[in-house]
Amino acid sequence: IHRIAELRLAEKFGEDLSAGEQVWDWAEQLAVHSEADDALTVTYMSPAHRACARKLAGWMQSCGFDEVQIDALGNVVGRYFGSDPSAPLLMTGSHYDTVRNGGRYDGRLGILVAMATVQGMKALGHRPRHGLELVAFAEEEAQRFPATFLAASALVGRFEPQWLAQQDAQSVTMAEALQAAGHGAQPSAQLDSIAALQRDPKQYLGFVEVHIEQGPVLDAAGLPLGVVSSINGSHRYTGEIVGQASHAGTTPMGAGRRDAAAAAAELVLQVERIATQLPEAVGTVGMLEVPGGSINVVPGRCRFSLDLRAPRDAVRDRLRDEVLHALDAICERRGLHYSLRPTLSIDAAPSHPDWQARWEAAVQRLGLPVHRMPSGAGHDAMKMHEILPQAMLFVRGGNAGISHNPLETVSAHDAQLAVEAFEILWNSL
Ligand code: GLV
Ligand code: MN
Ligand code: MN
Ligand code: MN
Repeated sequence: IHRIAELRLAEKFGEDLSAGEQVWDWAEQLAVHSEADDALTVTYMSPAHRACARKLAGWMQSCGFDEVQIDALGNVVGRYFGSDPSAPLLMTGSHYDTVRNGGRYDGRLGILVAMATVQGMKALGHRPRHGLELVAFAEEEAQRFPATFLAASALVGRFEPQWLAQQDAQSVTMAEALQAAGHGAQPSAQLDSIAALQRDPKQYLGFVEVHIEQGPVLDAAGLPLGVVSSINGSHRYTGEIVGQASHAGTTPMGAGRRDAAAAAAELVLQVERIATQLPEAVGTVGMLEVPGGSINVVPGRCRFSLDLRAPRDAVRDRLRDEVLHALDAICERRGLHYSLRPTLSIDAAPSHPDWQARWEAAVQRLGLPVHRMPSGAGHDAMKMHEILPQAMLFVRGGNAGISHNPLETVSAHDAQLAVEAFEILWNSL
């Protein structure tokens, strides 16, 4: 509802949208595709996800990209040639998948800002010296399968073959999901095409990503843009505590009860306590489930997730060590077992000083104060960091920056500034 006034504005402008209004309008049109009726949910290789890829590819074509392709993992890749065909490319991009019941800008904003920039350049007949490769990453959010950064991992040559065997909640494997979407009949053929996605860093200058801040800092400071200094690293796990299912009415309280959910509840509170005590650390149990639970059965199993992050890797590792120790102690004391599967371990990714300075110069050229800030959220840039120098630009989110929430919002005005900053950076290379 808070968007209706702006939507009318976009309709009124028709073909003559400013770049920022165009970005805003594209985000609305992309948000039409969802797996849920009453929420924005776009998980890997779902019909909504594939519809988004087709729409993005079509838009890239009409914006004037010279080459557009949907690759073996569903990434939408557009290339706009530079004036010097031998010069390395600038790579940019962000993801188009969403969390369940997510917002319209997380990931998508970075794709749409680059698209609007190319659209403007094409209209003016302008080609910077270096060409652009825009990657709309197919997967960043780890919603359907436990593995995350599938898309960026393939680009840096670190796609792990066993990921294809991971199953979603309906026991569909990633290989089957890819096959159903027309991406290869056999895992062996899929792996060959995925291996071919690896980029040669010599052909690229660096990687930049525009992203909504997803936090309250810029909104509180009254600033439309922020320059990222570093992306916090993380450890992630999924696990299961195993006790013994028994009759809720007849199993006495005390040592005889082997309640897996009660142990998981203790773990949640330990994660909160430990993360609160470590500097700048955050720890979250975002998923908690008693599989096949009943009202009158003591939970015999409880599944959980762990997401542990900190700006400094040493603190993140200490958080992990203390949480895993607590899990051990809880299960030992209660006579329970557990299993744990690491799903992500990624180091903090400090911005490359030269690329951070380029974003700072662009922000300054727009007459705005330079605000440097770390990123608490993970991003495709932290994976691309493994092969290319990278730096990110943050755009202010409205509603106090709330994200991973349908209230997430960006104004057309701020999107316009992001397009202008992107154009300045690209032209400065
Ligand atoms: C992804 O959005 C993450 O930071 O977890
Ligand atoms: Mn996200
Ligand atoms: Mn994101
Ligand atoms: Mn993220």
